[in-house]
Amino acid sequence: MKKYIIQTYGCQMNEHDSEKISWILEGMNYKLTNNREECDLIIYNTCAVRKTAEEKVYGQLGELKDLKRKNPNLIICVCGCMMQTKEAIKIITSKYRHVDILFGTNNIHKLPQLVNTYESTGKTVIDIVEENKEIVESVEANRKYSYKAYVNIMYGCNNFCSYCIVPYTRGRERSREPEYIIKEIKQLAKNGCKEVILLGQNVNSYGKTLKEDYNFVNLLKDINNIDGIERIRFMTSHPKDISDDLINAYGELDKLCNHLHLPVQSGSNRILKIMNRRYTREDYLEKIKKIREVVPDITLTTDIIVGFPGETEEDFDHTLELVKEVGYDSAFTFLYSIREGTPAADMDNQIDDKVKHERFQRLLNVLQPIGLENNKKLLGENLKVLVEDVSKNDKTILNGRTTGGKLVHFKGDKSLIGKIIDVKIINVKTFTLEGELS
Ligand code: 5AD
Ligand code: SF4
Repeated sequence: MKKYIIQTYGCQMNEHDSEKISWILEGMNYKLTNNREECDLIIYNTCAVRKTAEEKVYGQLGELKDLKRKNPNLIICVCGCMMQTKEAIKIITSKYRHVDILFGTNNIHKLPQLVNTYESTGKTVIDIVEENKEIVESVEANRKYSYKAYVNIMYGCNNFCSYCIVPYTRGRERSREPEYIIKEIKQLAKNGCKEVILLGQNVNSYGKTLKEDYNFVNLLKDINNIDGIERIRFMTSHPKDISDDLINAYGELDKLCNHLHLPVQSGSNRILKIMNRRYTREDYLEKIKKIREVVPDITLTTDIIVGFPGETEEDFDHTLELVKEVGYDSAFTFLYSIREGTPAADMDNQIDDKVKHERFQRLLNVLQPIGLENNKKLLGENLKVLVEDVSKNDKTILNGRTTGGKLVHFKGDKSLIGKIIDVKIINVKTFTLEGELS
């Protein structure tokens, strides 16, 4: 039996693509290993959203040169978002010639064919489909956990935020037919899955490409009716597209988790406009107010970019103020990264790295105490926790998540993994909660 390794970079969408790749490879009689020396095939599933993610991949590929020399039969593949950019293809085919197969995000299902072609010709295989309107339904996933599962509901993005490469790498927005989604989730539930995480670049516009009149809230309602599924999460929402119906759904659907991840990116109206986000800070705050009226204790998280071209101290202050006003539980914070081919990359008022780093630190200094204060409110509470796994460092400690998506550590037996249980919160930190079985 041949052995493989997949190294995944980037978002949940990529993680789930890797689960699909793994399913395909196991169907080709490959088995997962964590030892590079005994590996027959290594795949890098790449991310193009920031430069740092790309640099990591180039670093890793450089290291593989020796391995390939020692084992010329090793097949090295690179796939994912980077492969949807001409620049990365050019760099890999010229500087990393030991890479054997390059394929994009739209043709994962062709992997067996690509490996075959490489094995029979010994020549580099490049298979990139720029735009795939069709959705391939025949690929299943070799999922990491049995009790929680990623489920794609749509692909691509039509928003063209001016900093973002995704609309160029993942193509135009297209929704999966609801029948396929429901069928997949029913099957997951049959196999013991309790939590589904619905994936799409902008889930709020789910349904727009369907022939029938069916939207994201319709989908949530149908999933809420599936026996066995106890929790529904989704990623990611665009603030401009959050509807009142979706906000009300939080009050109506018992399985919808108490968590909303709503990327704001900046608190400055001027910057939001140049980012092409198509909402103002006032619109955003209004949506937050509405959602809190329906779910007062909802966990709110966000994405923030620091140092977008032309960001002034005043713009940045608006971001800090918004962070305080919303009181986020946590946030993914990013230094703005130039992505060739996006409108922001050509703006001539790029921010100095030192200024970016300094603002980044100031942002963390504001975010972290707020997160901690929010967690303190949970002290002494009994919370429902889905037990996920055993702690890496201490096998007597279990990890789980609350419906708000907060990570909880507590002592317990591993037989609890996959169950939803009550845990009393006895201690809190900025990013995690500590509990005991109640
Ligand atoms: N630079 C920095 N952060 C970015 N993101 C997207 N593009 C860039 C970029 N060029 C961030 C956004 C998005 C998250 C997934 O990545 O905050 O919400
Ligand atoms: Fe990128 Fe904006 Fe689309 Fe999100 S909504 S994937 S930030 S273009």
